[in-house]
Amino acid sequence: MMDQKWNESDTEVFLRYGRVFVPERGELAKTFIDLIPANHDEDFVVVDIATGGGWLTETIASTFPKAHVIALDGSPEMLKYTKDRLEQYADRLEFRHFDLFDASWLNDLPNKVRCFVSSLAIHHITFQQKQDLFKKLYSNLHNNGALLIADIVKPVNEIGRRSMSRSWDDVTKKQSLNLEGNLQAYEYFLNTEWNLFEHPDDPVDKPSTLLEQLNALQQAGFSDIDAWWVKAGHALFGGYKYE
Ligand SMILES: C[S@@+](CC[C@H](N)C(=O)[O-])C[C@H]1O[C@@H](n2cnc3c(N)ncnc32)[C@H](O)[C@@H]1O
Repeated sequence: MMDQKWNESDTEVFLRYGRVFVPERGELAKTFIDLIPANHDEDFVVVDIATGGGWLTETIASTFPKAHVIALDGSPEMLKYTKDRLEQYADRLEFRHFDLFDASWLNDLPNKVRCFVSSLAIHHITFQQKQDLFKKLYSNLHNNGALLIADIVKPVNEIGRRSMSRSWDDVTKKQSLNLEGNLQAYEYFLNTEWNLFEHPDDPVDKPSTLLEQLNALQQAGFSDIDAWWVKAGHALFGGYKYE
């Protein structure tokens, strides 16, 4: 079962406005590619945890012509939409339904995953569940592999919360104008109270601070842990596993 609070109406909004609501998705995509530990002509397996509309799966499949991507999501609507949209990569993509709250999906993976990636999904689980997940991902990872996560992070104090909120608002307004040519998406962002730094009450969102998550990665066994991009309360962070 998916968390009852992420439902198909969230899916619809996110498919429509995700590129406006996510800060600097283009820069994020390039940073993921920088960090994936593989040569461009290598044959390897990546798992995209909660692929959504598939921008990250698509970025990886189009950059690494021999990469196989297992794209997971809990929304049948997302999976269908993204499978159809990325049809041109069909021979290298596998779409699987999964539940972030039930780790049994890890039992069905190939035993040599080079990279787990995820964008804007891990904040749906509690810190304890994140700790457990990081440990399980570490043990399912190929030596010389990586876990790379882009996600919302919890502010550490009120001053930080206000800054994250202001910054996310600013970037969404700018992207609404630049990407859509009007403020409709930005108004939707405001009206639906999407900025969780301003409206932190939705139980579907359980962000942890960046430091908590970096420490959890270390406890799980990862090396070379870092945050490579941080913007408007969103961060791309992760770690590597070596032989
Ligand atoms: C904010 S979207 C992010 C999608 C995509 N990774 C991106 O960056 O655009 C969150 C995704 O997580 C999925 N999701 C939410 N809760 C889930 C759960 N409990 N199990 C599996 N997937 C879930 C949703 O279907 C949605 O595709």
